[in-house]
Formats: sequence, C-alpha cells, structure tokens
Amino acid sequence: MTSPALRRLALDDAEDVLAGFTADPEMERQGEVKDLESAQTYIRFLTNAEEGNHGFAVDVSDRCAGVVGINGATRHKLGWFFYWMHPDFRGQGLTASAAAAVANWALSSRDSGGGGFERLELGHRVNNPTSGAVAQAAGFIHEGTERKKFLVNGERIDVFTYGRLATDPVPETSPLGLKAP
Ligand SMILES: CC(C)(COP(=O)(O)OP(=O)(O)OC[C@H]1O[C@@H](n2cnc3c(N)ncnc32)[C@H](O)[C@@H]1OP(=O)(O)O)[C@@H](O)C(=O)NCCC(=O)NCCS
Repeated sequence: MTSPALRRLALDDAEDVLAGFTADPEMERQGEVKDLESAQTYIRFLTNAEEGNHGFAVDVSDRCAGVVGINGATRHKLGWFFYWMHPDFRGQGLTASAAAAVANWALSSRDSGGGGFERLELGHRVNNPTSGAVAQAAGFIHEGTERKKFLVNGERIDVFTYGRLATDPVPETSPLGLKAP
C-alpha cells in the first residue's frame, strides 16, 4: 500500500466524492452532492483555479478518501478553507496533516510555487470540536465566535471562526506530501 498523499482533485474522483457525501448525514452542510452529476459539478467548481478555487484529494491507495479545499476571493488574496474525510478514514490524523500541507502551500508565494493567498479563513460549529482540532493543527488561530449562526435541527448554533495569515507561524504538524500542485 502506498502512503497517503495529496494531489489535485480530478473528475475521476466523482464516485469517491459521492461516497464521502453519502456516508455521513453531517456532510449535507459541505455542499450539494447527491449523485454522480452533482459530484462532478462540485469537482468542477473546486478545480476552477481562475476563480481562485483549489481542491485537493487525500489519496489513499488511489482512492480519494477526503478533500481539502479553498474557495478564493482573488481580489483580496483571501481563501475560505474547508475539509472533510470519509468516515472509514477518520481518526488517524489524516485530515490534520492534509489541512496543514494545503494551508502551508496556499500561504506560500506564487514565486515559490505556492498559492499566493495572504489570508485563509474557516468556521466550524461549536459542537464539532474535531474540526477545531484540525484547524489548529493546520496553524489556524481562533479569531472569534459568530453567535447562533446556523439553524441545525431547530436549534441555533454558535460558530467558531479561525484565520491563518501568510505571516503566521507554520504549524509543527507534519504535513502530508503534496504532489505537483
Ligand atoms: C472534521 C473531520 C474532517 C475530522 O477528520 P479526521 O480525519 O477524523 O481528523 P483527524 O484524524 O486529522 O483528527 C484531528 C484531530 O482531532 C482530534 N480530536 C478528535 N476528536 C476530538 C474532540 N472531540 N475534541 C478535540 N479534538 C479531537 C484528534 O485527536 C486529532 O488530533 P491529533 O492529530 O493531534 O491526534 C471529519 O470528522 C469530517 O469529515 N466531518 C464531516 C465534515 C466536517 O465537519 N468538516 C469540517 C467542517 S468545518
């Protein structure tokens, strides 16, 4: 078995992306992926680099086990950062090391082969502490709380917001290898 690694997401990953979305009801908050066609639409959106979007597959034995992505606002060199992992691959520190690698890449200058972003941000519901642990492992700093932001099962839930700047320290988390970004 080859070691897990990061590579660019591709249309061929649609079946694995669909599997990730259908394996966990929590995934409905990650986007509208219900069938192969919507999985391809999701991948096309995430691979539209002209819009500042970047999607990376966490590749485990040629399977896309999870995704780390960035939706860019190119004018501001700002990116919205997110991640998900298929339940079969969770709890191994894979998302943490994948998120660290993608954030390190994204905040490096284009001259050095990086993404050229100057700020990344993300948010997670307060009742999703694993996501906060991933954010911190990837060098994100807790910036605040958006009170009662989401309506989940009839209850309003606070969201913790995080940011990482190009000038913030690179985290100690061992980053997953990133193939030719
Ligand atoms: C959140 C999610 C991506 C985590 O994936 P994962 O592969 O299990 O994450 P990791 O194995 O890398 O674990 C990350 C860290 O969380 C820690 N952790 C696990 N449960 C925790 C808890 N309840 N509280 C605090 N930390 C916790 C782990 O110890 C690990 O830290 P370590 O690497 O220092 O050991 C995954 O559960 C998922 O896809 N959820 C659905 C989508 C989602 O919520 N995405 C985030 C939206 S912002």
